[in-house]
Amino acid sequence: MNNLIRIGKLLYTKNLVPGVSVYGENLRVINGIEYREWNPKASKLAACIIEGFDLKLEANSTVLYLGASSGSSISHLSDILVNGKIYGVEISKEMIVRLINLAEKRKNIYPIFDDARNIDNYKDLVNDSVFLYQDIPQFDQVDIFLKNLSIIKEKKGLLVVKTKSIAVNKKLKEVLELVRKQLKSVKIIKEKVLYPYYPDHVGFLVSG
Ligand SMILES: C[S@@+](CC[C@H](N)C(=O)[O-])C[C@H]1O[C@@H](n2cnc3c(N)ncnc32)[C@H](O)[C@@H]1O
Repeated sequence: MNNLIRIGKLLYTKNLVPGVSVYGENLRVINGIEYREWNPKASKLAACIIEGFDLKLEANSTVLYLGASSGSSISHLSDILVNGKIYGVEISKEMIVRLINLAEKRKNIYPIFDDARNIDNYKDLVNDSVFLYQDIPQFDQVDIFLKNLSIIKEKKGLLVVKTKSIAVNKKLKEVLELVRKQLKSVKIIKEKVLYPYYPDHVGFLVSG
């Protein structure tokens, strides 16, 4: 992916807004270019990339991102998708206000204040997306992902499952069997526990 480099166990993205740190992350000049540190301990998306998930995104790709929060991880996608778009869906009022502030400085971020279950509210806005990313710790997270996958242009995505949100008392293996069954309508390209960063989270890269 453009504007993304890896040094040891850390990722760096070329800062779209030079001089500005979004959430307190370190800024570092490498070969005369300013980068923002993207620590896999602070971002499940970064952990997925470090763990070898190949998202195959281009500088002009459009991504639908569910569970945007205040936009820490989205800000790095914003560095990478310089000519693209990131639609960030977020249910929390407090978080969406922070995401809107971020989007004022980064014009490729489009905040959507909604429950990601309510696809009818925003499907016409996001249907040019070529990739879906989801980080939503809800019991019905797989259903939410599949619903949203059905409304985007290219049926590809990365689902980060928080296993404890599906069943707190079940073993990881049992929850994963359940998730695989729920994902039977799509092809699982890669599945990996995000150990050591998020041992109770599992990434599923899929295509429809
Ligand atoms: C773990 S945080 C996401 C962190 C973010 N992906 C990042 O790396 O910067 C999960 C977010 O999902 C949001 N969320 C939970 N349920 C949701 C739903 N049904 N629709 C949209 N957002 C939801 C929460 O408010 C929270 O901000």
